[in-house]
Amino acid sequence: MDVIDALKRRISTRAFLDTPVSETEIRELLDAARWSASGGNLQPWQVYVVAGEARQRVIDAVQKKLSTDPFTNEAAFPVYPESLWEPYRSRRFQVGEDMYELLGIPREDKGARLAHLMANYEFFGAPVGVFFSIDERMNPNQWAHLGMFMMSFCLAAEAKGLATCMQEAWTVHAGTVANALGVEKPQIVYCGLALGHADKDAKVNQLRTRRAEVDEFASFEGF
Ligand SMILES: Cc1cc2nc3c(=O)[nH]c(=O)nc-3n(C[C@H](O)[C@H](O)[C@H](O)COP(=O)(O)O)c2cc1C
Repeated sequence: MDVIDALKRRISTRAFLDTPVSETEIRELLDAARWSASGGNLQPWQVYVVAGEARQRVIDAVQKKLSTDPFTNEAAFPVYPESLWEPYRSRRFQVGEDMYELLGIPREDKGARLAHLMANYEFFGAPVGVFFSIDERMNPNQWAHLGMFMMSFCLAAEAKGLATCMQEAWTVHAGTVANALGVEKPQIVYCGLALGHADKDAKVNQLRTRRAEVDEFASFEGF
């Protein structure tokens, strides 16, 4: 699969088979992703891969926090700016509406929508969870480079027939996740990722999200 195919085929997968993924396979993905570019070649990323008992330990820790202290936000900063403006506000709204329409969950059914969100905290059934951390002293530039690394990881997974979903949902519980993983400051957990084999029969995996056309975000001069 070439890179352009991988870019166009990758989606956020939100239902997985329980088919295991081996450590060897995941090492291969990381071995590819480590060639991502980063300013000054800082490579400002750390990765924690969990399966089996370790995966369950993270799930249990967050489920426990959700049941006792659901509203404390442990993220280093809010996932989105406080009140989004156009066109971002509409895009965010649209992807949610498209997904819930596909799943047949109406706006009034807050319980079903919440249950769908909570599946994040079980990696959507994926057998492997991956967490990415960064040194909290880093600047926005290095955060961007961590994101590039994460995307490289997703593309490598796609090329190998594996499915992914990046999950900022875990960020809200970053401290709890860090404790469960044994991650210590100055490293801070940024994002989780579900990794496994897609359940191709699951409706949620039929979602193809929209994108702005090239001319909406790019300009060309001098051609
Ligand atoms: C850094 C990052 C974090 C994300 N966090 C979540 C998440 O917590 N839960 C979720 O269901 N989707 C999450 N997504 C998926 C986005 O909603 C998705 O990428 C976007 O709607 C575009 O859809 P696509 O990935 O299928 O192309 C995340 C995506 C990125 C890049």
